[in-house]
Amino acid sequence: MRKNIVAGNWKMNNDLSETLSLISEIKQIQNTSGAECMVAPTFINLQSAFETAKGSNIEVVAQNMHFAQNGAYTGEISASMLKSVGVRTVILGHSERREYFHEDDALLKQKVDFALENNMRVIFCFGEKWEDRSADNHFNVVESQIKNALFHLSAESWNSIVLAYEPVWAIGTGQTASPEQAQDMHAFIRGLVEKQYDSSISEDVSILYGGSVKPNNAQEIFGKNDVDGGLIGGAALNAESFMAIVNAF
Ligand code: 13P
Repeated sequence: MRKNIVAGNWKMNNDLSETLSLISEIKQIQNTSGAECMVAPTFINLQSAFETAKGSNIEVVAQNMHFAQNGAYTGEISASMLKSVGVRTVILGHSERREYFHEDDALLKQKVDFALENNMRVIFCFGEKWEDRSADNHFNVVESQIKNALFHLSAESWNSIVLAYEPVWAIGTGQTASPEQAQDMHAFIRGLVEKQYDSSISEDVSILYGGSVKPNNAQEIFGKNDVDGGLIGGAALNAESFMAIVNAF
């Protein structure tokens, strides 16, 4: 069943006390839309965030993960470590990971496989840069990002995949994609999944939009047929604006 999901990607923001206050504030605001609500604090605060979110319907998720279970990978975090503090979902492939940490499709494919082997759910991010869109190459770029990292997966694995289309030019810029641009890309993505698998999988997968989603534009974007929610950066750092987006369905 396709679900409506709103996930707050906090990126490298919020220390421990800020993390706990923000989760407590979010908990106090009623989720009237029934959308799944997730927050992704930094690694070091995941456990405390998980404890604070207990008893609410806020899921605490991770922003990244390594592709091995343990070993000589200084500074990295594995699936078993995440699971040991209660995390069941991980964001992979964010454009900031691709850009600043040189994560490519081959590495992301390994990470996706590893997350699924560990029974974790993956929010897989992808999206074109402005130069791709201005060259009218955005559909090709997105197609190859998805194909290279996900199209080797079995049909059953898709139960654990959430897609997140985040055009790089819309992230943190205030220049959101228009609802039509988001819808066109989401419909294209759903079509790709249908062609590779079948319509039951393509109809079931949730496709989130990310890139300057705010309380004042969320309703219009989420109103599009193939947009099943959002991955929210800046506006997720404030409880009122985040919950206004969660409640925009
Ligand atoms: P903004 O909402 O700040 O544009 O960030 C989007 C994003 O990158 C979420 O992962």
